[in-house]
Amino acid sequence: MEIKTYRLQQHGDERGHLVSLEEKIDVPFEIKRVYYMFDTRPGVVRGMHAHKSLEQLLVCVHGSVKILLDDGEEKRTVVLDNPYEGLYVANNMWREMSEFTEGAVLMVFASKYYDEDDYIRDYDEFLRFVGKKQV
Ligand code: TYD
Repeated sequence: MEIKTYRLQQHGDERGHLVSLEEKIDVPFEIKRVYYMFDTRPGVVRGMHAHKSLEQLLVCVHGSVKILLDDGEEKRTVVLDNPYEGLYVANNMWREMSEFTEGAVLMVFASKYYDEDDYIRDYDEFLRFVGKKQV
């Protein structure tokens, strides 16, 4: 399973740093939505779902967070711990976010508007959806 991370271009000078993301240039899809998670309580695991068609780019803009990706066959984990690395999460990918450090902010760029019908929240249903489990 291929993990795609993007090293986001930093525009730094003696004043500090800035990262700019432009759709289809720095983010490999049209951005329809941006949201971010913050104040995540210790020990909490978020996500635990897959999307049928949504693509996302995850950037931990402050602190660090562990991301588990699972395509139904293989699982990989990635730690996002800097604001200049983006993790691409394709559709049909089960994801879990855990180990948020205190004050961590996880920003998500998404290719579609929020649509509950695009979610698969049951792991067995996900395995059936990606053809890794018989009905
Ligand atoms: P949820 O999907 O449970 O978050 P995660 O799976 O990343 O842990 O979302 C939490 C709540 O926020 C849920 O009531 C749906 C709502 N929500 C929106 O209204 N718009 C959004 O773009 C997202 C991601 C969630």
